[in-house]
Amino acid sequence: MGIKILLQDLDQDIFSIEGYRAKGGYESVRKAFSMPQDDIIEEVKKSGLRGRGGASFPTGLKWSFLDRKSGKPRYYVCNADESEPGTFKDRFLMEKIPHRLIEGMIVSSYALGAHKSYIYIRGELMWIANRLKRAIAEAYRDGFLGQNILGSGYDLDLYVHPGAGAYICGEETALLESLEGKRGNPRMKPPFSATVGLYGCPTVVNNVESIASIPWIVMNGGDAYAQIGIGKSTGTKLISACGHINNPGTYEIDLGMTVEEFIYSDAYCGGIKDGKELKAVIPGGSSVPILPKSLILKTAAGEPRLMTYESLMEGGFETGSMLGSGGFIVMDETTCIVRNTWNFARFYHHESCGQCSPCREGTGWIEKVLHRIEHGHGQSKDIDLIVDIARKMEGKTICSFGDAAGWPVASAVRHFRDEFEAHVNQKGCPFSC
Ligand SMILES: Cc1cc2nc3c(=O)[nH]c(=O)nc-3n(C[C@H](O)[C@H](O)[C@H](O)COP(=O)(O)O)c2cc1C
Ligand code: SF4
Repeated sequence: MGIKILLQDLDQDIFSIEGYRAKGGYESVRKAFSMPQDDIIEEVKKSGLRGRGGASFPTGLKWSFLDRKSGKPRYYVCNADESEPGTFKDRFLMEKIPHRLIEGMIVSSYALGAHKSYIYIRGELMWIANRLKRAIAEAYRDGFLGQNILGSGYDLDLYVHPGAGAYICGEETALLESLEGKRGNPRMKPPFSATVGLYGCPTVVNNVESIASIPWIVMNGGDAYAQIGIGKSTGTKLISACGHINNPGTYEIDLGMTVEEFIYSDAYCGGIKDGKELKAVIPGGSSVPILPKSLILKTAAGEPRLMTYESLMEGGFETGSMLGSGGFIVMDETTCIVRNTWNFARFYHHESCGQCSPCREGTGWIEKVLHRIEHGHGQSKDIDLIVDIARKMEGKTICSFGDAAGWPVASAVRHFRDEFEAHVNQKGCPFSC
């Protein structure tokens, strides 16, 4: 088992601020106040931390883009929307160790010069929003939030803002629109949030897990963080594992372990349920390409596939996928890939905000065609049709939802075309779904 940065002391009583502080919690706030803000940003750059919300953009670099010259207020926003099917790591962290996120919010807000910060949380997670609010009240009581924090002269107010259950509000500019009280429609970019974000002011949006990693980086230094992991995949990563495995749950892994170990070790997924065979894995939430057993355990070049950003992308989309948000969905030999793809297609059709024609029309069209293939009314040409629609959505929309809705479809056909053909030829589902 590797080092624990995010889930450290999970087995101890660290839910309350007293328990959390007894284990060294909030020490990074004190340390951060003794450092120039630019030095904190430098440490985060050195750490190599990449955003854990899915796009994996380097966090320190993103912070350095924040416009500090405009004279406008700066905002720091935590993206806790987490609605991607198969992804449930942020909610676990917030539910069990709310103070780790709050500590990260304080240190990051200080580094960026924000005096008002927000945690935008998925609307369905009200009990966690309430836990966060309780924890924030404790942090105010102990002097870690509010005016003149720990006598430093720095002021910060932190708010929890629940969404209303739209997946698209996880997209950073849709989130900002929603936070401003408007419909959660993604914005055209540029301008980027670093210059025109919340209320038209410079803003950084980060994922829960990215933010919760910051206290450790400040306490131990960016170099120490960069020593964990492999290459440009530094540090630890939360993986939410689900599907046909013996031990579903949220795990913190050192980036760089093999996918095979993650699936079969008793310390993690514990192997495939009921002694069945592994068929396929979606390694980074529903938006990333599916890989069959042969390509998830080894790359096309025969190298062991690693739990890193680079290794999972090895081979591009022909033979690779993405680490994405870390939602690791495992399927055994009994899974109908067509039904699974249709199920995701229903989700994307339902969640499209509808601003862009390729996404609004394409997601509905794909869903309809997949429905008829799964239910025995499909024709051979339908298989190429869904790939064509998916391709025509890619790169042609305001936000990357259009890409994300198309990739699972194109990859399912690429790797499991025979199953789609079997549905057409047998006029129904061979798995009797
Ligand atoms: C449709 C869509 C949904 C998204 N949902 C989330 C989400 O729930 N949580 C999240 O952190 N990022 C989500 N993202 C990514 C965010 O736009 C943004 O990149 C991220 O919050 C930045 O944080 P990071 O740099 O720390 O990863 C989503 C993106 C898209 C296109
Ligand atoms: S790609 Fe889809 S979700 Fe994104 S802005 Fe366009 S219509 Fe909305």
